[in-house]
Amino acid sequence: MNPEPVSAELNRLRAEALPKGVVSATTSFIASAKNATITDTDGKEFIDFAGGIGVMNVGHSHPKVVAAAHAQVDKFAHTSISVFPWESYIRLAAKINEKAPGDTPKRTMFVNSGAEAVENAVKIARAATGRPGVVCYQNAFHGRTNLTMGLTSKIVPYKKDFGPFPADIYRIPYAYCYRCPVGKEYPSCNMACVGLLEQAFENQFQADRIACLIAEPVQGEGGFIAPPLEYHRMIKDLCESKGILYIADEVQAGFGRTGKFFAMEHYGVEGDIMTTAKSMGGGYPLGGITGKAAVMDSPCAGGIGGTYGGNPLACAVGLTVIDIIEEENLCARAADIGARVRDRWGAMQKKFPQIGDIRGLGAMMAMELVEDPKTKKPATALTKAYRVKLYENGLVNVIAGTYDNVIRTLVPLTIDWETLDKGLDIMESTLAQVIAS
Ligand SMILES: Cc1ncc(COP(=O)(O)O)c(C=O)c1O
Repeated sequence: MNPEPVSAELNRLRAEALPKGVVSATTSFIASAKNATITDTDGKEFIDFAGGIGVMNVGHSHPKVVAAAHAQVDKFAHTSISVFPWESYIRLAAKINEKAPGDTPKRTMFVNSGAEAVENAVKIARAATGRPGVVCYQNAFHGRTNLTMGLTSKIVPYKKDFGPFPADIYRIPYAYCYRCPVGKEYPSCNMACVGLLEQAFENQFQADRIACLIAEPVQGEGGFIAPPLEYHRMIKDLCESKGILYIADEVQAGFGRTGKFFAMEHYGVEGDIMTTAKSMGGGYPLGGITGKAAVMDSPCAGGIGGTYGGNPLACAVGLTVIDIIEEENLCARAADIGARVRDRWGAMQKKFPQIGDIRGLGAMMAMELVEDPKTKKPATALTKAYRVKLYENGLVNVIAGTYDNVIRTLVPLTIDWETLDKGLDIMESTLAQVIAS
């Protein structure tokens, strides 16, 4: 008799040991991973199109990341930045200040996650302006802590039953061209959606009580929505005219994913504050807040920090991640990956009208699935079935979008062409399979 696979025992144990609110996209358990391939505990291989939700831009187990982590483990684990500082924290902060968009001198501090970075960015904006309000977007995702849950848009599953939410948060529509909030078409729209912020100054909030507006350069969980290239600049100018600070949330789009080191470089916007996490830590928990020096210096001494922020191992790896992105030209590679995915999906769209929209920036690519390209009714059930079948067929993927009808790619930027093409083959044959069933 064959022994029971490890995954069967782990799934049983999981059902008893974990709360229902913690879900996984697959019933497999990872045993090891290399570049863009994950091997599970039962020996099955998967092509990774999710990259740990945008964390593995430099691939799994990159030899330089592994070496940097090992070297740090041998030295020391933790002291806390507010007690006894370490070199990699300082050097990584200086490096990110150098790479951040714009010429204004910058400062950086580190935390443990994207949500914590956003929390701190808002705290700093409030300290810098003496104002309480925050403007955010429909379809935005900024995290799951109380303040960031307040900034996040989607109700189920992120906000359901978790209120009360923080006060003084205002939401405006994003430049979502496929489902234009003002019912127009780009470019004849003349960016009419920017006017929605102007209208909000009249009928939603008092502009001089607003500390900051927070924007993802390309919305991530919201469905990889990449606004026209003039959008963020226009919004930033409006904010500036009202003394509202602009927070660029680069947690998902940063570190090479979109074809530039930071996505706001495409839009020519220097945020007053920028938040980072995910791929910066190469798989180790690390978040960052970078901003103009005068803004970042607003909180009083000791007003910002935390026990673990900027963990030595995560910072040592963070420095290595930047080296790898530069040495292996991963920004250019992201653009090439994006072009290849776009071409392939474009060909697929001709066969499958359910692919309503193909969009993104660089390797941050997504397809939105609809029941009918005319009505654009979200094909939520089809997308769920597609996602499950993709796993069965050996492709790790994550879905996105307010209606759970967007399939996105967050492949490691180090993926080789053969593996990428194999993954795209699986996408095509699996879509045919689920549509036929
Ligand atoms: C744009 C953006 N901001 C913030 C977060 C929250 O990051 P974390 O999950 O590390 O708290 C995410 C996570 O997906 C994100 O995509």
